[in-house]
Amino acid sequence: MAPRNYFIGGNWKMNGSVEQVKSLVEGLNKINVPAQTEVVVAPPALYIDRVRSALKKEIGVAAQNSYVKASGAYTGEISPEQLKDLGINWVILGHSERREYFAESDEFVGEKTAHALNAGVSVIACIGEKLEERESNITSEVVTRQLKGIADKIKDWSNVVVAYEPVWAIGTGKVATPEQAEEVHVTLRNWLASNVSKEVADSVRIIYGGSVNAKNAAELATKPNIDGFLVGGASLKPDDFNTIVQARS
Ligand code: G3P
Repeated sequence: MAPRNYFIGGNWKMNGSVEQVKSLVEGLNKINVPAQTEVVVAPPALYIDRVRSALKKEIGVAAQNSYVKASGAYTGEISPEQLKDLGINWVILGHSERREYFAESDEFVGEKTAHALNAGVSVIACIGEKLEERESNITSEVVTRQLKGIADKIKDWSNVVVAYEPVWAIGTGKVATPEQAEEVHVTLRNWLASNVSKEVADSVRIIYGGSVNAKNAAELATKPNIDGFLVGGASLKPDDFNTIVQARS
């Protein structure tokens, strides 16, 4: 089996201003992207074009959301086809904040994933359980149900990165232990092996997100099934983000 490349995503969420975006890009342009490592940042849609223009090409750019149509009367939405038009090759879909605040269902996330892939945009597909679900011992059930929502709608997984982001760890400073994250990643890989194919299970990157920072990334990165990270808060600090990018090298 070929080793899976390390993948680091920076999700800026709804943060930034013209000034801050400028200085973030300057900081990111100083990062040396190691071999076998892929780095992608996701600015708010408003800033995406200026980020893509100013950011070095070794770093990819993602949108934080996209819709299930190419164009039309869908006020406020953006399509993967429009992202492609701007040279944006990635999109984050199914983030827990979208599931929670914008009522996105497993099925809708699956549909959005399929549409983005068909348009040629790669997808960082997010899944993860809430605290009460973990405490009720239904973590595996929840994350495999969310993964099935995607698996039901797509055939080709080669342009998908799965991001396991336990909701209780997002923005809380309460990172999952390497063992907790590894356990879920193994569950997801086993589910893919049984329900999609062994080849997909072996090749798809499963990254972890939730309070990843410059201090805890290296230890998490030692786990064989953790193929990288989706970073929120720490992605707004280029030095910390750089430490996370270098964590496995
Ligand atoms: O998508 C990244 C994310 O939700 C994690 O956020 O701030 O806990 O690193 P944060």
